Formats: sequence, C-alpha cells, structure tokens
Amino acid sequence: MIRAQAVIDRAALAHNLQRVRDHAPGCRVYAAVKADGYGHGATTVAHALHQADGFAVSSLDEALQLRWAGIEQPIAILSQMLDAESCATAAEHALEIVIFHDAQVEALAASAGRPIRIWVKLDSGMHRLGFACERADEIAQRLQALPGVQIMGWLTHFACADDPDDGLTDRQLRAFKDATRGRAGDRSMANSAAVLAWPDAHGDVVRPGIMLYGSSPIHDRSAHVLDLRPVMHLSAPLIARQTIAAGEPIGYGATWRTPETMPVGVIGIGYGDGYPRHAPSGTPVLIGGRRVPLIGRVSMDMITVDLRGAADVRIGERATLWGPGLPADEIAAAAGTIAYELFCRLTPRVRFSLA
Ligand SMILES: Cc1ncc(COP(=O)(O)O)c(C=O)c1O
Repeated sequence: MIRAQAVIDRAALAHNLQRVRDHAPGCRVYAAVKADGYGHGATTVAHALHQADGFAVSSLDEALQLRWAGIEQPIAILSQMLDAESCATAAEHALEIVIFHDAQVEALAASAGRPIRIWVKLDSGMHRLGFACERADEIAQRLQALPGVQIMGWLTHFACADDPDDGLTDRQLRAFKDATRGRAGDRSMANSAAVLAWPDAHGDVVRPGIMLYGSSPIHDRSAHVLDLRPVMHLSAPLIARQTIAAGEPIGYGATWRTPETMPVGVIGIGYGDGYPRHAPSGTPVLIGGRRVPLIGRVSMDMITVDLRGAADVRIGERATLWGPGLPADEIAAAAGTIAYELFCRLTPRVRFSLA
C-alpha cells in the first residue's frame, strides 16, 4: 500500500497554461518553476509545459537542473547570480539572468566576453529586489558598455497584484512604465495575479506560477471560478478506524473530545510528509466522496478524522488531502498559510507519480 502520494496531472498543467494564454493573448509565457516547480517537480512540470515560451527559476542550480533534463527553452534566473563565475556558467548554458543590484553589474563586467542575455529589474514599489526607477538610464548605459551583454528587456514585480482594489499596483505600473518609456527591449511584470487581474501589466512576457499549478492567486476568486484545474492530487490511505466512546480525547495534547460515541479514522499522512501541522480541527479531508473534518492535532505520521459522515469507508481506502474536489487553497486558508507553501513543503517521504 502506498503511503502519502502526490499524483501530478500533466493535462491539468497544459490546461492551466492555456488559461494564461486566454488571459494574456499574444504574450510570451515564462512559466515559474522555481522551488522544484512549486513542489511539483521542476523537470516534470517543464516537460509537461513544453509549449511554454520559457521558464523562470530562482537560482543557477535550478536552471542547470532544467538544462541537464533537456529543456531547451529560454530559462530566466530571477535572483542570486552575484559572482562572475555564476554569470560565466549562465552564459555557457544560454541562461538569461535578472540583474537587480550593482554587485551583479560588477560580476558581469568581471565575466565579460561570452554573449549573455539579461533582464534589468526595476524596483517599482515593492522594495525587495531591483534598481530604483530613477537609475534606469545609468544602469542601461553601464550594462550596454559591457561586451557580450544583451539586454532582453525590463522587469518588475508587484507586491499586491492579488488584491484588485489595492492602489499600489497602479502606482507600481505607472512608475515602471515611466522609467522604461522609449527604452529598447521587452517588458515583463505579471505574476499569476497580474495575468488575471491587471491586463495593463501584461507587457511582452508574463511570469505566472501558482495559477499553472491550479491554485487561485486572487483572494476572493476560487480556482474553480477561474477555471484552473488542480495539478497535484495528494492522497493517503485510511490505516485504522475505531469506535471511541463519548467524552474521550483524540491525539496529542487531547485537544479534541468526542461529543458522542463515534467512529474515528486514522489517515497515514502527517507533518513528516508536509501536511501542515497547524491545520486545525475542522479542516476538511475527502474520503469516500465525502468531506470529513480533521480532529485533534496533526502528528508526524498521521492525522485523525471524524468518520461520522463517512462511516462506511474501509481500511486502505485513499483520502484526498488536496486535489480534485478539495482545493489546496481551502486547506491553506484553514491552516493559515497559502497553497504555495503547502506545495513547497512536501517532504521526500511523499511518493510522486504522473498522470
Ligand atoms: C519575480 C517573480 N515573478 C513571478 C513569480 C510567480 O508568481 P505567482 O506564483 O504568484 O504567479 C514569482 C513568484 O514568487 C516571482 O518572485
């Protein structure tokens, strides 16, 4: 019997990529596959998204992993890349790098020679990475003076695109457009939320991540409403069930007590697999086609569920922790986090397979 298992639905990835194209027609799509494809397996995702125009990763190692797996599309490295050796390796493997700091300009100068494609990142208001917009001229001149350096375009990132009512995105958009007006090269601004909610921010290259994996990046719109399909189906088997008398405690800390004599199920997944330990009692689990609530604390290897609503389920039957019929966004909300983190935190104990 397979314990915790994550099945990756490649058709769902392709469907979600098409949703990106529906929302941002004419744009090139660099699929964000950093953090091992948001925990789904970067090379699996990149192969399944072979129709993407490129990929976005966070580090040189992540980019090289894709190159070694035979991915030939452009790969942009969004962060890191602070030394000349890394820049030279990136050039050797035809990787694109995002330049956001003076230290990188110096590293590029030290590694100069080999042709290398770069993006210049401007800080339009998020104040994380990027050159101040006022420095766009100076930075462009310094980079253009370096032999082999080809500026692909200009890039920025939004802090609040997931909230269509937040004025910061408008201000960031204006600052970025002002700073890049008349400059040669492409524009890349949009994460998933901006693909869906900020058409003015589409530019030439969009960089969606979470929507490709089937989760909603927007507070008040579900993945279902957005026609995004879940890519990961996380399941685990029912490994025990017993009838517990009224008033008895369940699990560590005895945080939950049976209100009546009732069936309690034990499912073989816990925080040792990456199921969030902070998921409270009441977090839904899908078993036998019905939703049952988690009860008591999440343990390392198992969780306990109230089986009063699904008394007929049998040992070995698989429960869905998230996936079709039970959006990861719902579990994330219950556990006080975001689906991004749920996906990224799965541990090597989970067996991955492809559908
Ligand atoms: C610079 C950059 N672009 C794009 C993305 C993709 O964002 P999302 O997964 O919200 O679409 C990220 C993710 O954090 C990012 O850091």
